[in-house]
Amino acid sequence: MKTKILSLMVVMLLLASCGTKKTAVASAETPPVNKEVKAAELTPELAAGKNLYENSCAKCHKLYEPTKFSKEEWQPILVRMQKKAKLDDTNMASITNYIHSQL
Ligand code: HEC
Repeated sequence: MKTKILSLMVVMLLLASCGTKKTAVASAETPPVNKEVKAAELTPELAAGKNLYENSCAKCHKLYEPTKFSKEEWQPILVRMQKKAKLDDTNMASITNYIHSQL
């Protein structure tokens, strides 16, 4: 009985160590790839829009994910929020472009 439990534990340990090795390899490879893709997607203008969005639009509430609304739904919200955030048209266009680029 004891040997059965022992061998079961050995098997579990082996499985566990295999599992950790696999995830370690996966997580070591995946994040840099993702970052490169994201950085390549955002032009300097869009990155500036993202920055403005994060700094101007999370003062009164949490930052909404751009994907939470469609382009059509964003339109009236952005008109309302431009007034609230007291943003000029140039900055607002930059934020709008960033949101649209994420949809
Ligand atoms: C001065 C405070 C303030 C700022 C700054 C502000 N908001 Fe809001 N926001 C609100 C309030 C209050 C509500 C909820 C009432 C409403 O919808 O008008 C809201 C609601 C929202 C909603 C939800 C609307 C819905 O119909 O569910 C979104 C999306 C949003 N804001 C986006 C933004 C964006 C983008 C910016 C930056 C341009 C921004 N907010 C800046 C106060 C603010």
